[in-house]
Amino acid sequence: MEKINLPMASKYTSPNPVTLICTQKGDGTTNLATVSWWTYLSYNPCMIAYAMAKTSYSGEMVRQNKKVVLTIPGEEIAKEVLNCGSTSGRNTDKVKEFGIKMQSLANCDIDIPLHSRVAIVCDLKEYVEVGDHYLYICNVKDVYGDKNEKALFAFNGYSQIKSIKE
Ligand SMILES: Cc1cc2nc3c(=O)[nH]c(=O)nc-3n(C[C@H](O)[C@H](O)[C@H](O)COP(=O)(O)O)c2cc1C
Repeated sequence: MEKINLPMASKYTSPNPVTLICTQKGDGTTNLATVSWWTYLSYNPCMIAYAMAKTSYSGEMVRQNKKVVLTIPGEEIAKEVLNCGSTSGRNTDKVKEFGIKMQSLANCDIDIPLHSRVAIVCDLKEYVEVGDHYLYICNVKDVYGDKNEKALFAFNGYSQIKSIKE
């Protein structure tokens, strides 16, 4: 084996997961940010976690509201998901700018993209400083799924987003 670094390792592990972190902005609308660094943590109780750069607007919103929905976006919105990963909600209304169709969920204030394969509705339990990121550890409240939507994955590190053909 040759010695590589961690960013290179994330290219070697492609395809990597793709999620949209859905948080609520002050005006009640949703901010969407693309995140690959997430994981299941526990089934009893149900918990997940994801890591986001300290500077992210999504982080600011979840630390403030303590609520977040993690979705697995469907293949129809692959291009939009890439765009959500290169712009910040701090200065862009991504849902409007990229024309992303949304849907509401029962007992949840945060709208999510219509094209979603999975939605995991969470309360923020705590967040931990991990280098240049925060790790957000969440309690899962509700989970929804739609098997007709095809999951997206990130290829070549994080530079391309597409579904996987079986
Ligand atoms: C495929 C892909 C995966 C990404 N994964 C992460 C991630 O795991 N953690 C992170 O902090 N940013 C990740 N990003 C970058 C964020 O989506 C980006 O910084 C975004 O602008 C943050 O938006 P916000 O400021 O509205 O929260 C990823 C981007 C792409 C395209």
